[in-house]
Amino acid sequence: MTKDGPDKTVEQTAGGVAMMRALEQHARQPLFADPLSARMLAGWPAVVVAHGPLRAIFLWIMERIGPGFYGAVICRTRVIDDECRAALAGGIERVVIVGAGMDTRPYRMPEMAAARVWEFDLPDVQAAKRALLPSDRAGVAYTPLDLQSPDAGEVLARTTAGSGPVLLLCEAVTMYLPDDAIERVLGYAAGLPPGSRLILTYLPRDVADDIKNSYWSRRLGWRGAFRPEELAARLTEHGLTPLSDVGAEEHRSRLLAPRGRRVNVFPGERVVVAER
Ligand SMILES: C[S@@+](CC[C@H](N)C(=O)[O-])C[C@H]1O[C@@H](n2cnc3c(N)ncnc32)[C@H](O)[C@@H]1O
Repeated sequence: MTKDGPDKTVEQTAGGVAMMRALEQHARQPLFADPLSARMLAGWPAVVVAHGPLRAIFLWIMERIGPGFYGAVICRTRVIDDECRAALAGGIERVVIVGAGMDTRPYRMPEMAAARVWEFDLPDVQAAKRALLPSDRAGVAYTPLDLQSPDAGEVLARTTAGSGPVLLLCEAVTMYLPDDAIERVLGYAAGLPPGSRLILTYLPRDVADDIKNSYWSRRLGWRGAFRPEELAARLTEHGLTPLSDVGAEEHRSRLLAPRGRRVNVFPGERVVVAER
């Protein structure tokens, strides 16, 4: 991480997530359907995902280097897919995705097909995504944005101005941001119309502070972290009512055990849902 802004490692995390989702499509009982994720890959990750023996070797190595990272990504993806469906079934027709990376939900989820969507991310990430996507779907607008820019909150509000509640997604982003940038996202959420929903993931403070995770903290450039009660209070301060907050334990009992899947889940990311 440079002093002034995000570095390439942060941008590359978007491709890493797409690779985990693409690998999951080859599981016997995938937690979610993301047929587009493989198209979001280039170079060696695309080669690995396309070949069964390489997939098995990669997952084996991955589990040794970052135990539970794969499980954490696939479980949070499923939880967020379900939360998106619930929000859209409730009548929300506008979706804002900050730090969208290679998220394919606007293109793969039938429930999102009719929604107006705004994607925000760093310029290089958006350019890479647009080059890899087969075609832009109508109703998706891309705006390059560095959340570390002081005017990022105004850009979000100005770009997405309009009436009707919003589904605001902020998945796997806050851990790469300093607090003032997180505050811009929460400040934007605070100004959304009533009935809007926020789905946000965060790094639990105890995981961030655990010395065992210092390699990943340095390697991934972790910054933002919260205790669950601290984040709940912060959301409340912004006029947001926390509805749920789930992590590795819930993923194991609700998603993996019923399917008989033995997947390790790193406890470094929780999914919180809040209502405006
Ligand atoms: C781990 S990826 C997650 C991408 C996507 N939300 C998903 O789950 O597939 C983190 C994303 O946050 C974006 N990001 C990190 N720092 C950012 C910043 N300062 N401004 C905007 N986006 C940022 C990265 O470019 C990347 O796409």
